[in-house]
Amino acid sequence: SNLDQLYRQVIMDHYKNPRNRGELEDGALTFNLNNPTCGDRIQVSMQVEDEKIKDAKFEGEGCSISLASASMMTETIKGLPVDEALQISNIFSEMMLGNDYDEGDLDLGDLEALQGVSKFPARIKCATLAWKALEKSVQQKEDEE
Ligand code: FES
Ligand code: FES
Repeated sequence: SNLDQLYRQVIMDHYKNPRNRGELEDGALTFNLNNPTCGDRIQVSMQVEDEKIKDAKFEGEGCSISLASASMMTETIKGLPVDEALQISNIFSEMMLGNDYDEGDLDLGDLEALQGVSKFPARIKCATLAWKALEKSVQQKEDEE
């Protein structure tokens, strides 16, 4: 359908022109995560101040879905309070399970372009890799506090 085609274009655009690629330094929260099924790796780094994500970047090697998803993820969460970023992460998990979700007031950005991935179970881990890295980096920070 036209919508599938549009979604495919959005995914390819994020893959070919990744947003926020790179690494933040100086006290950034950083987490590296492997996809055990393929060995690919995504690193997420975030600058968090007053429970707000001031900046976010990603680095790593992976397939088009994993890199496009990481690009969308950083773009979506930048500027958000940490708890809203985690809410969006939960919504994205529901989306990947093929479940209904309610975004309420949250802005999902380009994420809905990845909806179709839920039909390909082997690729769901690709799409969620960057989001899991985000969750782990927040957990790591909480464990340290
Ligand atoms: Fe096969 Fe991601 S593990 S496409
Ligand atoms: Fe490795 Fe998709 S095939 S992250």
